[in-house]
Amino acid sequence: MKYSKIMLGAALIGATASTIFAQETLRSLAEERGRYVGAILNSEWFNNAIESQFEEIHKTQFNAVVAENEMKFDATEPNKGQFSYAKGDKMVTYAKANKMRVRGHALAWHSQVPGWVNNIRDKKQLLDVLKNHIDNVVGHWKGEVAEWDVVNEAINDDNNHGWRSNGSVWFQTIGAEFLDSAFVWAHAADPDAELCYNDYAIEWGLGQGSKAGFVVDQVKRWKQNNIPITCVGTQTHIEISHETTPQNVRALAKALAEHDVVLNITELDVGFPQGSAGSLGASDYAKQGHLYRQFMDVFLEEPNMGEFMIWGVTDAHSWLDGQQGKTQGLIYDKQYKAKPAYDSLIASLKAHPASEVKSPYKSAVTPPDSSATTDSTTTDSTATDSTVTDSSTVTPGDTSSVAPGDTSSVAPGDTSSVTPPPVTPGDSGVGIRHEAIASMELRMNLVGRTLSVAGAADAKVQVFDMRGRPVFSSVASKGSVDLSGLSNGLYVVRVRDGARSLERRVALR
Ligand code: G3I
Repeated sequence: MKYSKIMLGAALIGATASTIFAQETLRSLAEERGRYVGAILNSEWFNNAIESQFEEIHKTQFNAVVAENEMKFDATEPNKGQFSYAKGDKMVTYAKANKMRVRGHALAWHSQVPGWVNNIRDKKQLLDVLKNHIDNVVGHWKGEVAEWDVVNEAINDDNNHGWRSNGSVWFQTIGAEFLDSAFVWAHAADPDAELCYNDYAIEWGLGQGSKAGFVVDQVKRWKQNNIPITCVGTQTHIEISHETTPQNVRALAKALAEHDVVLNITELDVGFPQGSAGSLGASDYAKQGHLYRQFMDVFLEEPNMGEFMIWGVTDAHSWLDGQQGKTQGLIYDKQYKAKPAYDSLIASLKAHPASEVKSPYKSAVTPPDSSATTDSTTTDSTATDSTVTDSSTVTPGDTSSVAPGDTSSVAPGDTSSVTPPPVTPGDSGVGIRHEAIASMELRMNLVGRTLSVAGAADAKVQVFDMRGRPVFSSVASKGSVDLSGLSNGLYVVRVRDGARSLERRVALR
């Protein structure tokens, strides 16, 4: 992501003295690393009741967005069959204009459900209502909301690791099958959307009887039963004293990687007890920054984490003061001045070179242009990640783009091109090396639906859709792979042979 000087100036609004001359923003550093860093749009933004600095900071520092309340059930279907999309549309328009990824929050949640739903006691009727809601809402934003919290906070708080019954019309009237059904219906409405289970207090560790352990067990069951879950969201509303939580998140990410599921931090804030508001000093804010930094460290080091979302931008607008008995949990203070936590996040990002950060979303960090003519892969020449990404599109029969001498291909022994694969948990990333062939240039050529690979004996071929989701993986054991199982469209093909890798965008027609 490149910024003009004017944009860069805007980027620095609210930056501290230590960052004022820096070229980087959270967003630019995250994008170089194939990651999303985001923050909510507060309800005040939707109501045009927020300071002008808010949007300047938001669009400059973040590349992902979620609505604080405006995509919830009571906001989108306040009356049966009457859908209200205006506020959500406003966010999607803003996100498109600023090339941001949109999270949708939330489809099935016991809270913020309108009265007409809460009064339903007939199972079939409520299943119909849930399906109709998901069909309409997910369908309305198909292709625009990249990821949905399909089910939010469905586990009870009484440590017997069961589904929440108290206060949940979904569980009381339908039973646990509402969760499975919601995922299946959301997938049917938008097969390309990532689908998450989202909850709080799952950053408390995987010990026996833990909520996180219950989530992992359910993820395993869902995957075994082909329920289309792709991600878990750990909300991570924590307090300054919760020092073990970053490493608990790491353990959860590793546990979910075994099931090929992404873990996203979806609602981070690190609050102080409200009573301490008047006595907070530099060491307190430094400690808060240290915790933020540890979360970012974990986030960047775990390959199956993709989004780092903060539940607010400024302490001037945060749910903590009104509802949580906590305060000042965000990275900008009430005057929109960046806090030490902001600098800590920047420091963490800079300490993790792009070449070492793996990502589930690497090839889709800048959302694809709807015209599908621009290359949406990360091609920022300023990025330290040296992934070889040819901006040309290879069409069937087009051999020109892979002709000998193509400087975009990877030269033998060029280890700078080592590219962390998009998330393929369980994939060791080590290809079979055949030294004689490995001394040749790694090349690919597409003829019809046959992709030929030269310069490698057993190269691994991975194909990703334009959202970066893996759709095909095979070894080109005889120098070619058959892509005829893929639908027409644009894809990113990655060929890897040991440490060498070559990536191109292709159009299958
Ligand atoms: O819309 C009404 C408005 O008409 C009325 O005048 C006003 C008076 O208080 O209330 C408004 O509704 C409030 C709503 O936010 C919109 O501002 C509700 O009272 C208030 O309860 C609601 O709080 C939201 C809360 O979810 C509800 O559960 C917070 O803004 C929102 O930050 C919070 O977000 C949740 C996530 O969705 C799930 N995870 C936890 C997170 C924090 O609680």
